[in-house]
Parts: sequence; structure tokens; C-alpha cells
Amino acid sequence: MDLLILGGPRFLGRHLVTAALAGGHRVALFNRGRTEPELFPEVEKLRGDRAGDLSALEGRTWDAVVDTSGFLPEVVRRGAERLRDQAGHYHFVSSVSVHADFSKPGMDEEAPVQRLTPEEHERLSTIDPSEPMKSPAFMELYGPLKTECEQVVRETFGERASISRPGLIVGPHDYMDRFPYWVSRVAEGGEVLAPGRPERPVQVIDARDLADWIVRLAEGGVPGTFTATGPDYPLTMEGLLDACRNAASSDARFTWVDEAFLVENQVGPWEELPMWVPETTSTSHLGILQMSVRRALDRGLRFRPLVETARDTLNWERARGPHEWRSGLTREKERALLEAWRQLARA
Ligand SMILES: NC(=O)c1ccc[n+]([C@@H]2O[C@H](COP(=O)([O-])OP(=O)(O)OC[C@H]3O[C@@H](n4cnc5c(N)ncnc54)[C@H](OP(=O)(O)O)[C@@H]3O)[C@@H](O)[C@H]2O)c1
Repeated sequence: MDLLILGGPRFLGRHLVTAALAGGHRVALFNRGRTEPELFPEVEKLRGDRAGDLSALEGRTWDAVVDTSGFLPEVVRRGAERLRDQAGHYHFVSSVSVHADFSKPGMDEEAPVQRLTPEEHERLSTIDPSEPMKSPAFMELYGPLKTECEQVVRETFGERASISRPGLIVGPHDYMDRFPYWVSRVAEGGEVLAPGRPERPVQVIDARDLADWIVRLAEGGVPGTFTATGPDYPLTMEGLLDACRNAASSDARFTWVDEAFLVENQVGPWEELPMWVPETTSTSHLGILQMSVRRALDRGLRFRPLVETARDTLNWERARGPHEWRSGLTREKERALLEAWRQLARA
């Protein structure tokens, strides 16, 4: 198939290119050329800003489009309308963040989603369409904006549209540093602060498994909306950290720290301690790492062993060299918290 990716070789886009090439497909990438433009010399590069100039798409046809870079409904609408008669299938990468209420585990695709309120629509004028991530309003409205983008894609492509709603995407090239924090920290060894209950359920999806599956949806022109996270067995935080330890053959010892203590000590869930979602101090996000993936499994989503994801992420992280961390505790803060936790236990 001829596949157009509206996105780039940053993270998921990179794995989509690899999966599509491995499947024998011809690939074109449409982006501004800022992210590693020299990668994939065998792939056609179409240059443009999807919030502005789409002329590079003119006069071309594709069997399928995968859109990894859609965040604003009007920007997605311009691209989708332009491509309606030039492409067979349109796959939009959305997010589990579309959902309105994460307080219950086991949610599926039919659970209510957030929509933009009229006041929120007003705020969109403060977002630069070419650089949405730089706007605080965008970060706050990420979930409902993805819902609106999904709606645009469904309206434009109808039965020729598919939508994936990934949970936390992990694996090599994960620039958000959440899973890389855990693989690196555990590989360092010693006493590691682990949040909450060891049995707390968690979910992640390797970007390569997601990419393979999206390419297969596009190949088959499979319509529908799918929650896309994993694995297909109940994974716990302890299981995830064990996979990191096995991948690194490290001597890490986990000290499980009560979540009330973490909250009292102003440790932020999610970014500061990745994959930690409070269960008792707040239940508002209890279900975000406990989504039902039945529908995607029925449509062929499969997962590699987590230890493989951890090993490959660690190898990538080591090759990457020193960098600013976007997520995770500093070692100083981790040490101070562990010391305070021990003192509390002695008291
Ligand atoms: N990471 C997660 O855990 C997670 C979870 C749920 C959902 N998601 C979704 O997954 C998707 C994948 O993100 P990714 O960063 O991995 O995708 P990617 O395709 O690897 O990278 C995004 C690419 O889009 C291009 N781009 C951005 N703005 C553009 C514009 N205005 N015009 C043209 N090209 C543009 C960028 O290249 P240039 O800068 O060169 O233009 C960049 O390389 C996103 O939609 C995200 O919301 C991610």
C-alpha cells in the first residue's frame, strides 16, 4: 500500500515508518522537517506545516493516511478535507485522555468523552496552531481537543476512518521520559523508591506494537475506535519494575512508599513519579491505567514481552547520553524521601 504519515520520525511516527517498510509498503512522511530530517532516506519527505501550507499533498493519492500529529480540530479538518478524495483510509491517533471520568476501572470505548464547552472554544484563539504544545490552554484542553479531532475525522471519512486511543506509549525514543525514568533508575540499582501498592494495576503499550497494529488496521481499512494499551494480562507496578530489573540484571531493591506520605511530601503523580496514580488520596484517575482493551485485542492488537520493551528502552536511553529529564524524581529528592520514610517507620 501507499501510506502517508502526517507526522514525523520522533517517536510513534518513527516506529510507524519502520513497521510500514517492514510490511513492504511505500511510505511518505508529511511534516516540517525539524525532527531528524535525514532519517529514513528511502522514504519520501513532503514538507509543510499542517496548520498552514498543505500544497505538498496536491495531486497525490494514498491507500491510507496515519495522522500522529493532529491536536486541533480545525487543523485536522483542513488536512482531512484535503485528503478525503485522495486517500482510502484515515487513521487518527487520539488518546485515552478523551474520556470524561477516570474514577472507575474497566472503561471501554463507549464510556463518556469530554467535549469542548463554549468557553473552552473561546480559549482556542490563544493557541498557536503551529505550536500548540507551547500554550497552557492547549495542555489543559488536550483531552477534549482530541475528542473534537476524532469527531472531525469520523465526519470526513465515515466508515473509512479508524481511531486509536493509546494509553501510555513506551519504548525506544520515548521523549516523555516516563518509562525511561523507571528503566534507568532501576538499572542504576540500590534502594529504589516505588510508589503506592506493589499490586496496583498499570498499563503501557510499546510504540512498536502499537505501530505494527495501526499499519495492519490501515492495510485492512478496518473502521472503528479502539482503546490501545496493554498488556493482555493484569500487569502490576511490581511486575513493571521487575521487568525493568530483569532487563538490566540490576540489584535494585524496591521500597514501597505509602501514597499518603507521597502526597504529604508534595510528590506529584504522573510526571514526578511516572505511572503513579493515587488510589486512596484521590480516585479521580483510578481507571486511567485500567482500561478495557477487549475491542483492540479482538482486532489483532498483540504485545511483545515487557522485559523486551524495558531492555530496548534501556539500550536506547544509554546510547542517548546525558539530557534534561522531563519526568521522574531527582536522586536527591528520592534519597530525602526514603530517609524521611524510614524515620517515620522508626517513630
Ligand atoms: N506519548 C504518549 O504516551 C501518548 C499517549 C497517548 C496518545 N499519544 C499521541 O500519540 C501521537 C504521537 O506522537 P509522537 O510525537 O510520537 O508522533 P511522531 O509522528 O513521532 O512525531 C510528531 C511529528 O509531527 C510533526 N509535526 C508536528 N506538528 C506539525 C505541523 N504543524 N505540521 C507538520 N508536521 C508536524 C513533527 O515533525 P516536525 O517538527 O519536523 O514538523 C513530529 O516529528 C500524538 O498525537 C499524541 O497525542 C501519545
